[in-house]
Amino acid sequence: MTRFPDGFLWGAATSAYQIEGSPLADGAGPSIWHRFTRMPGRVTNGDTGDVACDHYNRFREDVALLADLGMNAYRFSVSWSRVMPEGRGRVNEPGLDFYRRLVDALLARGIEPCMTLYHWDLPAALDERGGWLNRDIVGWFSDYAAVVSKAIGDRIPKIATLNEPWVVVDGGYLHGVHAPGHANVFEAPLAAHHLLLAHAAGLRAIRASCNAAVGLVVNLEPKDPASKSPEDLAATRRADVAMNLHYLDAVLFGKYPEGLREIYGEAWPDFSREDLAAIREPLDFLGLNYYTRSVVRDDAAAFPTRASAVPQSGATITETGWEVHPASLLRLLREVHAKTGNLPLYITENGAAFPDPPHVPAGGIEDPLRIDYFRTHLSAVREAIARGVPVRGYFAWSLLDNFEWACGYTKRFGIVHVDFSTQKRTPKASARFYSEVIRSRGESLDAARSVQR
Ligand code: FCB
Repeated sequence: MTRFPDGFLWGAATSAYQIEGSPLADGAGPSIWHRFTRMPGRVTNGDTGDVACDHYNRFREDVALLADLGMNAYRFSVSWSRVMPEGRGRVNEPGLDFYRRLVDALLARGIEPCMTLYHWDLPAALDERGGWLNRDIVGWFSDYAAVVSKAIGDRIPKIATLNEPWVVVDGGYLHGVHAPGHANVFEAPLAAHHLLLAHAAGLRAIRASCNAAVGLVVNLEPKDPASKSPEDLAATRRADVAMNLHYLDAVLFGKYPEGLREIYGEAWPDFSREDLAAIREPLDFLGLNYYTRSVVRDDAAAFPTRASAVPQSGATITETGWEVHPASLLRLLREVHAKTGNLPLYITENGAAFPDPPHVPAGGIEDPLRIDYFRTHLSAVREAIARGVPVRGYFAWSLLDNFEWACGYTKRFGIVHVDFSTQKRTPKASARFYSEVIRSRGESLDAARSVQR
């Protein structure tokens, strides 16, 4: 029976557009998600973030939930267009005030605020100037990072620049399922490069403005070959390069991995050594979002990686179609650790959507599959720590059921149920489970396992 170490951060994560609602309140400008949700056919059921979890008005209640569940950390993101309605230039103080109030409420409860500056909700005004395709965004982002850091950074121990640059590129510019909805292979390498340059410039801006530790949050998905054939092995490598190494190797080593040129063909431009050197700005921590692995086969029809995922029979599959595979989290942590040495690592997101009813039945929400997901993944994290991987915190995705991007409100990831007709919050059985893990510093993980056996 091993306990998690002292000082471990136990938290939950959310993001601005997914929970706040009131997207235009108090002088905020529209974001690309505000606009995207108004385009017919883009989001399931035509759902929008107009109300979401109404966290903008109910944040005190949500902070109280975190405290009641025993958490000592909370990962949230800032809406750029609340703070700077046009994305650059003018600062909207009432927008900053919302985050000042949120940070006050967290600190008053002894909960460490962990802030992400960009969780996909680009100011629409910047998209009109090309968004992530315009290199000027490096300056726009670092100005924004400086504004937020100067306003609240002195009370925030950890600030991350971007959440999941791969998703921004893949969803927003390559396949068009996320805002701004482009599907253009020539845009993907450029958007990625500008995200990485902006991240590094953001790190420098934050460091110049406050004493927070600074980092990046990446989503990493280990890739396993479907067979030992040379074709499947090569496809597995391409999938890993496109999704994981493109971002990881750039920030850690200042280089793009071999293979990106093969994947992108003539859409891959030459990038300068100076740019790559700038991207390699030292990190104080790395945040890892882990949900699943993928088993990969060679597939000429899959564009542009020529690699596709093979569904696994016999595995538990979440409602988003993701295989539950905790062993890959342990493997991932060990592989990242081998590259990052003593750099502190955080699991900044981990969780699962499983069907829960829209209204809470008498007796509450029992969600055994989600409990099992957390039990096995938290055990993997503990195992990694026992083997010397410096994991310093864990954030469940998500505190609340929320707006799950193109899936609207159809996928519930919360450990706290939200009845969207009343905004009532009800902790699910998984929230109580997680709370007990926190209270016992991990010892209850073993108890839960022996009960289930
Ligand atoms: C991650 C996102 C987060 C949420 C989860 C399910 O990729 O960072 O906002 O959508 O997936």
